[in-house]
Amino acid sequence: MQLSSKRVFLQSIARDFKRTGAIAPSSKTLAQAMTRELAKHRRPDLRVLEVGAGTGNITEEIVRHLGPGDDLDVCEIDRKLAGIIRHRLKKDPSLSGVEASVRVINKPIESFDRRPRYDFIISCLPFTNFEPAAVHDIFELYRDLLKPGGICSFYEYILVRKAACLMTGKTAVGARVSGVSKVVRNYIDRYCYRHQVVLLNLPPAMVHHIRFAEG
Ligand SMILES: C[S@@+](CC[C@H](N)C(=O)[O-])C[C@H]1O[C@@H](n2cnc3c(N)ncnc32)[C@H](O)[C@@H]1O
Repeated sequence: MQLSSKRVFLQSIARDFKRTGAIAPSSKTLAQAMTRELAKHRRPDLRVLEVGAGTGNITEEIVRHLGPGDDLDVCEIDRKLAGIIRHRLKKDPSLSGVEASVRVINKPIESFDRRPRYDFIISCLPFTNFEPAAVHDIFELYRDLLKPGGICSFYEYILVRKAACLMTGKTAVGARVSGVSKVVRNYIDRYCYRHQVVLLNLPPAMVHHIRFAEG
């Protein structure tokens, strides 16, 4: 990652930590774990959505698995971060030679219209900072955006929610974070078919791959 991208990411953390929800961009190891199922299920004409792309660390890894005829929609709510990715797609060799068709969408994921059109969703959203009802709505949106049999991969930082609950106890923040844990746990228990622990990331993370049941 180039210095200017790092600086913009750090600025976005300082500006709105709640929305950015990270202390550093994802590591290469986390990016590889997040794209593991995509790599395994390669087939022609894939439609992929990345949500919360930041400066594009995971985007870089996604495009390695895509070719001509594939489509990638990159959703990023922050205007400056979306601008960095657009710039990287033109100038940065790790993104500029992409053969798939890539669209950067500078809008919140919540504004996407609910039509099943993606084979994969790679979600990097910081759920811990959201309201439990918003997290539930986003998982249901992912269900609606995925084609039947589609896969959603997402990560959460290990122990961060537990630590936040311990520190905030019976406060409103504690109740919110514990509510988020329940929502995420419910989707993991029902639909997750593979997890992977990634220690080489700041903080260490757990990647989950889920497939919503049909019907
Ligand atoms: C934890 S960072 C992940 C950045 C990058 N993918 C990585 O892993 O290094 C989360 C990103 O989600 C974006 N984000 C937060 N809420 C969003 C929303 N409702 N819709 C789209 N993007 C959002 C933030 O601006 C931020 O760039």
